[in-house]
Amino acid sequence: MKKKQEKPVSTNQPISLQPAKSAIGPQMASADISSQEVFQDTYQSVSKVSDLEQLRQLLLHFDGCPLKDTATNLVFCDGNPNARIMFIGEAPGADEDRLGKPFVGMSGQLLDSMIKWIKLDRENIYISNVIYWRPPGNRAPTTSEIAACLPFVEKQIALINPSMLILVGGIAAKALLQKPDGIMKIRGQWFPYQNNFLSSPIPAMPIYHPAFLLRQPGQKRMIWRDLLTIEDRLIKEKILP
Ligand code: URA
Repeated sequence: MKKKQEKPVSTNQPISLQPAKSAIGPQMASADISSQEVFQDTYQSVSKVSDLEQLRQLLLHFDGCPLKDTATNLVFCDGNPNARIMFIGEAPGADEDRLGKPFVGMSGQLLDSMIKWIKLDRENIYISNVIYWRPPGNRAPTTSEIAACLPFVEKQIALINPSMLILVGGIAAKALLQKPDGIMKIRGQWFPYQNNFLSSPIPAMPIYHPAFLLRQPGQKRMIWRDLLTIEDRLIKEKILP
C-alpha cells in the first residue's frame, strides 16, 4: 500500500504538537516504544544538555526527524550566542543546506538589510530556525517534523535566554506561540513566550518572513513598522544605545 503523505503545515491551522516518532540515537529506534515515550525521552536527553555545543552534538546524533536523511547539513545557528535578541525562522533552504548556516540565501540577505535598519547585524543577534534540516524542494515542514525539532528549539532558546525573541514568519510563530490567528493578525505584537526550560517568559514578536516580502513587496511597509516597535524596545531595555 502507498504510504500516506503527511501534509505540510498551513499557517492558518494551529500546529498540534503531538509527540513525534523521534529518537535520540539508534538505541531508541525500537518499534515497540510508543511515540509518547520516545518524545519524552527526547525531552529528557535535551534537558541534560548544558551548552550549545552539546545540543548541536545531540542533534547530529538525533534520528527522529526524517528531513535529516535528505539534507546535506545540519543548520543550527548563526550570530552571537551572547546576543540579547534571538531570531527564529522556519527552515533552511538550498543555500542554508549547502553552507550549514541559517538565512544565507535571498531571504537572509533581505533579513540582514531589514535588521541593519535598526542597527542590528549577525554580531549582535543570534539566529536559528524551528527546523534544523532543509525540507526537500523547500516545501513547508509538517507538524511532526516541527514536533521532532521542538525540544531542541526550546532548549536552544533557554540556553541563549535572550531578552526578546523575533519569530520570523507564520510557521515559526505558530510553532512557538500556538496562537489560533495567522501571521497577518499577530505580526507586530508582543506575546509572552514560555517553555519548560525557561524560568520566566520572554517577550516574542512575530514578523513577516522575508521570503513573503520578496513575493509581496507591497507588504514591506508593515515590516518597517514592526522593526520600529522592536527598535523601541531595544532602546528602552538599553540593548541599543
Ligand atoms: N528561510 C528560513 O526561514 N530560514 C532560513 O534559514 C532560510 C530561509
